[in-house]
Amino acid sequence: MRVAFFSTKPYDRQFFEQANTGHGFELTFFEPRLTAETSQLADGYEAVCAFVNDRLDSEVLARLAEGGTKYIALRCAGFNNVDLKRAHELGLHVVRVPAYSPYAVAEHTVGLMLTLNRKIHRAYSRVREGNFSLNGLLGFDLHGKTVGIVGTGQIGEIVANIMAGFGCHLIGYDMNVNEECIKHGMNYASLEELLEGSDIVTLHCPLTPETHYLINEKTIEHLKPGAMLINTSRGGVIDTRAVIKGLKSGRIGSLGIDVYEEESAYFFEDISHQLITDDVLARLLTFPNVLVTGHQGFFTQEALTAIAETTLRNLKELDQHRNCHNEVK
Ligand code: NAI
Repeated sequence: MRVAFFSTKPYDRQFFEQANTGHGFELTFFEPRLTAETSQLADGYEAVCAFVNDRLDSEVLARLAEGGTKYIALRCAGFNNVDLKRAHELGLHVVRVPAYSPYAVAEHTVGLMLTLNRKIHRAYSRVREGNFSLNGLLGFDLHGKTVGIVGTGQIGEIVANIMAGFGCHLIGYDMNVNEECIKHGMNYASLEELLEGSDIVTLHCPLTPETHYLINEKTIEHLKPGAMLINTSRGGVIDTRAVIKGLKSGRIGSLGIDVYEEESAYFFEDISHQLITDDVLARLLTFPNVLVTGHQGFFTQEALTAIAETTLRNLKELDQHRNCHNEVK
């Protein structure tokens, strides 16, 4: 089977070529993002392998189907960038990697919390300039604080486990109760109760019509004054403009994000030679109490190995049986 990869980076090639030794697929790595303009690169390829910021809207899917593509293999967990209804109408099978290393994202999430709390990002630059002053670096003990986890699936559960280890109290918000989280001492509550009771709020739900702008001007009003907000799920779960207002008023004490609603224009690219024309992102980057990472939560050796192996296994299953247990229905 011929597979066309989009949004390819050197690390994708490395991990996929390694995983392909047992499969023998014909892999072609294209650097551009998948868009209406680049979709013709996939002409004649039975499978397309796409990533989080590739656009799989109605137009692109129709173009891919016209060019002979049958399978869309997402090398990620989220599928909010795919028009699934249209894919099914066109007879395209969409597969994903539902789990690769939830530890990777959970550990990065906790990294953001620790860095923001103890201002390690500021201390790092300060000390390198010969400034050993502690003014402005005051943090708080995590022990005894309350962490609110929105979305207590695979990643949320591991965050709960780690934070329980710090001696934190846990509040969860999810329509599905996770028994493992309850074992870590989690109490489930409404979103408002979670926001009102948490010193740190961390988001681990998928981006869906229900979770779009879950954190907005109204819900921010429920936050404890000075609470820390962390988002490593998808950018659209928070209304960034409302969050900026919350930061300016002090309602939000600090913000750590690995995802941004308009990230596709910037993330995964080196644009250090350009100006950032997105004023919302540019404003975020001016706050000393905001830490932005460029969607790197998944970026560990273990996760990339698992992503490559599962993606190629998904394609093998489709090739052999025309169905796959990781198909998105
Ligand atoms: P999961 O499917 O195991 O857990 C998601 C949880 O969210 C489920 O328990 C579900 O019931 C809950 N949920 C769904 N809708 C909800 C709603 N309206 N309100 C409250 N809870 C809701 O997914 P997993 O593996 O834990 O991943 C979570 C998200 O993390 C993914 O959807 C993805 O967007 C993001 N992610 C980010 C990565 C990164 O590199 N930053 C990498 C991988 C995933």
